Amino acid sequence: MSVILVTGGAGYIGSHTVIELVKAGYDAVIFDNFSNSKPAVLERINRITGKHIPFMAGDIRSREQLEAVFSTYKIDGVINFAGLKAVGESVKKPLEYYDNNVSGARTLLSVMREFKCYNFIFSSSATVYGEPDSVPLTEESPVKRANCPYGQTKVDIEYMCQELQKAVPEFSMVLLRYFNPVGAHESGLIGEDPRGIPNNLMPYLTQVAVGRLPYLNIFGNDYPTPDGTCVRDYIHVVDLAKGHVAALNHCLNKSGTFIYNLGTGVGYSVLDMVKAFSKAIGRELPYKFAPRRAGDVVQCYADPAKAQRELGWKALKTLDEMAADSYNWQKNNPNGYDD
Ligand code: NAD
Ligand code: UD1
Repeated sequence: MSVILVTGGAGYIGSHTVIELVKAGYDAVIFDNFSNSKPAVLERINRITGKHIPFMAGDIRSREQLEAVFSTYKIDGVINFAGLKAVGESVKKPLEYYDNNVSGARTLLSVMREFKCYNFIFSSSATVYGEPDSVPLTEESPVKRANCPYGQTKVDIEYMCQELQKAVPEFSMVLLRYFNPVGAHESGLIGEDPRGIPNNLMPYLTQVAVGRLPYLNIFGNDYPTPDGTCVRDYIHVVDLAKGHVAALNHCLNKSGTFIYNLGTGVGYSVLDMVKAFSKAIGRELPYKFAPRRAGDVVQCYADPAKAQRELGWKALKTLDEMAADSYNWQKNNPNGYDD
């Protein structure tokens, strides 16, 4: 069976994807520097899969460490989740973001070429569409210059992959544009565990629910949307993880560049999320309206038809499942992996 190197595999989306890869019969090797994750996740992944998943500690910017992995295992494909992802931090530390994300991806691709491993899946983001001219977003919607260094690293890496594929046509480059991943594995053993105060909506909601934070600040209630709050395409992380398996099944050893939106196609507002979450916890979740957050787009949701048509993949989990699974994870692990 094919061996897949999962860089950033100890992180939120990577850990869920490793589980779906193993369920689908792939062998996974995890590579991570724990800059935004904790070693405890590895044992949880082993518990869920019932297997010992090989792990190597390392940084995708280190050619030597990557060469050690490719020399130890016969890697057939790579899914690259390794990246920094905090928008505000990227504005303060642009060089660190270009270094980690862009230089890291460049080194990884260079080592792949050296070892003749030509299957690459990249964690891109709907952020490449910027403020959409219209929704739903298709893969043909224009990619725009990003309004922060984090977003621009996604645009730049997508471009680098496309150029490399033209130069080395054996490459199969799959660029997956995620919408808003939320939720957690149904076991409650793994989930999202951000450091410090969460920037993103769902981990903030879960931390309010377990009393780590007093209330949610809703950023803006005067947007031109039905209830005045911003609209996003929230997708359950297990559906997203299965999207990677579908992409591998379809694109392994098929040369070319393939771009897919991974979303549900349905937009929910921040207030919709608060309602669903209140239902999951059985009480009203406290919130206050606060000023708009700089850089927020008004609405963003996918047209996921291409992924369904070409990969046979479709998101299946409901908003209630996303809220219930997120809460289940946080309730069982109020302090994340520090328990
Ligand atoms: P995460 O921070 O939980 O996971 C990233 C993992 O990569 C972490 O375990 C971290 O320790 C590791 N890592 C970072 N830099 C590394 C390096 N140089 N070498 C080795 N390991 C490194 O984030 P996530 O939410 O799982 O996101 C995974 C990827 O998906 C990221 O590239 C992110 O930008 C992208 N993405 C995430 C979202 C989202 O909302 N979560 C949306 C769109 C795209
Ligand atoms: C954010 C990033 C995006 C990145 C994505 C995943 C910004 C401007 N965008 O997307 O580039 O790809 O995370 O990391 O940071 N909200 C609140 N209160 C909160 C938190 C969020 O009201 O405490 C609202 C936001 O205003 C937004 C929605 O909830 O309308 C979703 O926010 P978030 O989870 O941060 O995701 P995005 O803004 O879509």
